[in-house]
Amino acid sequence: MTTFRVAIAGFGGVGRATANLLLSRRGRYREVYGADVRLVAVCGSRAGAVSADGLEAAQLATLEDGLSGPALIEESAADILIEAGPSDFRTGGPGLAYLRGSLSAGRDTIVISKGALVHSGRELKALAESSGALLKLSGAAAAALPTIDLVVHSLKGCEVLEVEGILNATTNYLLDAMTTRRVGFDEALREAQLGGFAEADPRNDTEGWDTACKLLLIANFGLSADLTMDDLDVEGIQSVTTERIETWRGQGLVPKLVGRLWRENGAIRAAVGIRTYPPADPFANIRGKDKAIRIVTDAMGETLAIGSGKEPLATAAAALKDLEHILAARTS
Ligand SMILES: NC(=O)c1ccc[n+]([C@@H]2O[C@H](COP(=O)([O-])OP(=O)(O)OC[C@H]3O[C@@H](n4cnc5c(N)ncnc54)[C@H](OP(=O)(O)O)[C@@H]3O)[C@@H](O)[C@H]2O)c1
Repeated sequence: MTTFRVAIAGFGGVGRATANLLLSRRGRYREVYGADVRLVAVCGSRAGAVSADGLEAAQLATLEDGLSGPALIEESAADILIEAGPSDFRTGGPGLAYLRGSLSAGRDTIVISKGALVHSGRELKALAESSGALLKLSGAAAAALPTIDLVVHSLKGCEVLEVEGILNATTNYLLDAMTTRRVGFDEALREAQLGGFAEADPRNDTEGWDTACKLLLIANFGLSADLTMDDLDVEGIQSVTTERIETWRGQGLVPKLVGRLWRENGAIRAAVGIRTYPPADPFANIRGKDKAIRIVTDAMGETLAIGSGKEPLATAAAALKDLEHILAARTS
């Protein structure tokens, strides 16, 4: 039995869901991988909990002030970090310091927040390569919808020619409500905010930035591109009017906010914008908060995946899928 010590930095909805799911799956890790997985540290921005023997669920209810920061992760002697703090692609956010510390120390790292990977992906990838740490990001790259795993594992050996994705649940919900129920943008947004899946300030979603971040991660970490946000044309849905929806309806078309990758003159290009689909196209039938990805390859043709997991459990499960990949790699 090999012991794996896991720390979680960022202990909000997703961090807590990940901790609880991990604790409930310890038996599985023992049986399948011969791995004794212990949760040795968790922390939010100001408080945390630590135990070398492994924290139990009851110990996660009350955190101790002052236990936080990359130094805490270091002191916990964690073998694996799961980073689930706030995402800020313009600065890298608080996650950047955790990821730099962890990857340079050779610690296998699972990233759920997109910001640092978008802001400093090239540097973080290089740190992982030079230290030998495994860097996984299923939770950051559309979580409940498999994206990077599809291109890296399922379509291995094929050349990916094009990727098209409905990658943001909020914008899909808004456009779907406007199209199928004929509600206006503001009303649909209020519904999404009341439902708890649109932020009070929804611009990161509605202006297309969240889709752009996920697309960039798929490109850089799935297809070995080296794109920055400046390489992407990004259009959102904030100025879609009911009149425009009616025009598309009259033409028999369904609008979706889509991130797209394609090859041009040997380079990977990327853009986010509204595309319209005829009713028979699978993308026209991605409803509500669902997400989808369509990947075209040279040898396996077209692959389509649709994700409809409930949050935050689905994101926690995506991060723990990464954990199982790490356990498999480190126990083989
Ligand atoms: N919610 C979803 O369904 C979903 C899906 C996919 C990806 N994500 C990503 O997952 C991440 C977490 O989302 P969430 O919904 O759990 O957010 P959340 O509830 O706001 O939690 C964020 C956590 O990060 C902590 N934090 C802030 N600064 C920190 C620092 N310097 N060091 C350590 N922790 C720090 C906060 O601490 P305090 O508690 O002290 O404020 C809080 O515990 C985000 O990046 C989000 O984009 C979320």
